[in-house]
Amino acid sequence: MSTHLHITSWVLALVLLGLSFWFYRGGRAKAGKITHMILRLDYLLILYSGGSLLGAYFGGSAMLGEAIVKALAGVWVIYAMEMILIRSSKSTSSRNGWIQFWIAIIIALVLGFGRLPLGVLPIAG
Ligand code: HEM
Repeated sequence: MSTHLHITSWVLALVLLGLSFWFYRGGRAKAGKITHMILRLDYLLILYSGGSLLGAYFGGSAMLGEAIVKALAGVWVIYAMEMILIRSSKSTSSRNGWIQFWIAIIIALVLGFGRLPLGVLPIAG
């Protein structure tokens, strides 16, 4: 349940990030602001669903450490998305934000799908 909410909310975030970036870069500041605000509300869903998944690791899981790193990477993705959009809304370079975004999202995806056991795709068995 919580993983579905989690995945739905971060996939939605990626879509809203792409749209907002595209609007800001295309000079459509008003449209960008609207999708950016919706994205900010969606952060709450990501944090809520991620936080409740993280809660399941407290109480003796051997993978608590990896789950904490996964959660920090997730928070870092959110930080990078904000940095990208704030910079692009001011027409300054968002390169630094994108670099952080890709590093953080790769860590979140590898740990989330590849390593941690709660999900829908238990690749690591
Ligand atoms: C946009 C940012 C994020 C992305 C792309 C992301 C990605 C993922 C993925 C791919 C999974 C595995 C889901 C599955 O296997 O079903 C996952 C699970 C999880 N996420 Fe996130 N996440 C993000 C943000 C967060 C945040 C902010 C937190 C903490 C507050 C968090 C905490 C967790 C935890 C604890 C799990 C459970 C791991 C498991 O056992 O599978 N995530 N996330």
